[in-house]
Amino acid sequence: MPSTIFIVDDEKNIRRTVRMVLEGEGFTVEEASSGEEALARLPEVAADVLLLDVQLPGISGLDTIERISKLKNQETQPTIIMISGHATLADAVRATKAGAYDLIEKPLDRERLMVALRNALERRAMAREVEGLRAMAEERFEMVGRSAAITALFAQIAKVAPTRTRVLITGESGTGKELIARALHRASALADKPFVKVNCAAIPKELIESELFGHERGAFTGATARKRGLFEIADGGTIFLDEVGDMISSAQAKVLRVLQSGEFSRVGGEQALKVDVRVIAATNRDLQAAVAAGEFREDLYFRLNVVPLRAPPLRDRADDVPLLSAAFVELACRENGMKVKVISDEAVAMLSAYPWPGNVRELRNVIERLVILSEESIGVGDLPEEIVAEVARKRRESTDAPAMLPRVELPAEARALPLREFRDHMEREYIRIKLDENGWNISRTATLLGIERTNLHKKMRALGLSRDSQSQST
Ligand SMILES: Nc1ncnc2c1ncn2[C@@H]1O[C@H](COP(=O)(O)OP(=O)(O)OP(=O)(O)O)[C@@H](O)[C@H]1O
Ligand SMILES: [Mg+2]
Repeated sequence: MPSTIFIVDDEKNIRRTVRMVLEGEGFTVEEASSGEEALARLPEVAADVLLLDVQLPGISGLDTIERISKLKNQETQPTIIMISGHATLADAVRATKAGAYDLIEKPLDRERLMVALRNALERRAMAREVEGLRAMAEERFEMVGRSAAITALFAQIAKVAPTRTRVLITGESGTGKELIARALHRASALADKPFVKVNCAAIPKELIESELFGHERGAFTGATARKRGLFEIADGGTIFLDEVGDMISSAQAKVLRVLQSGEFSRVGGEQALKVDVRVIAATNRDLQAAVAAGEFREDLYFRLNVVPLRAPPLRDRADDVPLLSAAFVELACRENGMKVKVISDEAVAMLSAYPWPGNVRELRNVIERLVILSEESIGVGDLPEEIVAEVARKRRESTDAPAMLPRVELPAEARALPLREFRDHMEREYIRIKLDENGWNISRTATLLGIERTNLHKKMRALGLSRDSQSQST
């Protein structure tokens, strides 16, 4: 689609010249003769670039830009190039401050105009790309899942989010506790207010107070300026106390005080500050046990744990693995600018059978690695050794698996064979399929078959199986 240039000038001749030049270059051109008219038509014109005269009857060009930058809909904002008969430096400064991208002197020089336009359009394209990346980053916070466990969790989130109640999220590492906290914030009335994450375990002991509550200038060596704390920054929004179970006890006491009174003071400050924040906390520790062990304040625990939410481990919702895998494959491909790859059903089945000690984070990392390292389609053969080995072990352990196999229809030729030949034939076909699936990697295949590597070699020799023989049948 050709870019649209919107020329706003009260001189008809200038508009006509610009139109002629730009239409000759393949642009779509719209015109207006005053700032008021430009503002009124802006939404409908959807210009990419606005060429705006500084001196206009009615509101001036500079006032026009200032009004445009205040318009709600950021997407319809054009990139602005000012044009001026006798621009002063002050005009130029004001124009830039108000958000103009460039300023061109009249009489308009064709080359200068084209360079300015190309630069402006290039910058716009870049801004779009950044916006796309930002949208993608937001997508990273979408929660995926359809299992009973996650559906129940979604329902709880929907119920709790609009209230301002405190929530304590528990769950193993990598189960999505942070996503839940963000989802609670996004679905709340505070969604457009700040969401401030505090990693309680990562702040050094000496800094935790100043990080949370800020400090006055001169409060301690190195405090060269007043600093706002995270509670202050989060005012009106949500503060997310992540890894709250690992917070040192002195900080626990301070946080308790804020939760009780909403008040605190900056380090080295006298004045009591009041904030209005919603508190969401998360931990992968068993906080009740920590309380019993005297490592976590009981009063703080009760303050935080108004509504408990539990992020289920991935092994308890294996039916989400296919959906999560597909979502992560797509995301990884997009993020790395690759064509979308597919993951085979067998590979997904194997991923679903794996217990995922590192939960969704581990699955996501594995998929990302697979996407980067594998060809167009991801098969069992691409999966990491430890996953293959663990699933093979589990499958061998579960005794009821064979009972679930469907009955096999045997072709007449097979039924005609004596038992020994039939067995060899079936064994050969089975091993060949497994070898194919694993790219003829002997040790992997042996692990999957549950036999020693040397044993597999022996069998292959006995059955006449080798990589070169793979296409010919017996
Ligand atoms: N339901 C889900 N849908 C999509 N992605 C998810 C889901 N749950 C978790 N993830 C992804 O898994 C990763 C880990 O999630 P998150 O950081 O929220 O876990 P956590 O419980 O806070 O882990 P930790 O205890 O280690 O801090 C993130 O990349 C997140 O985007
Ligand atoms: Mg986390």
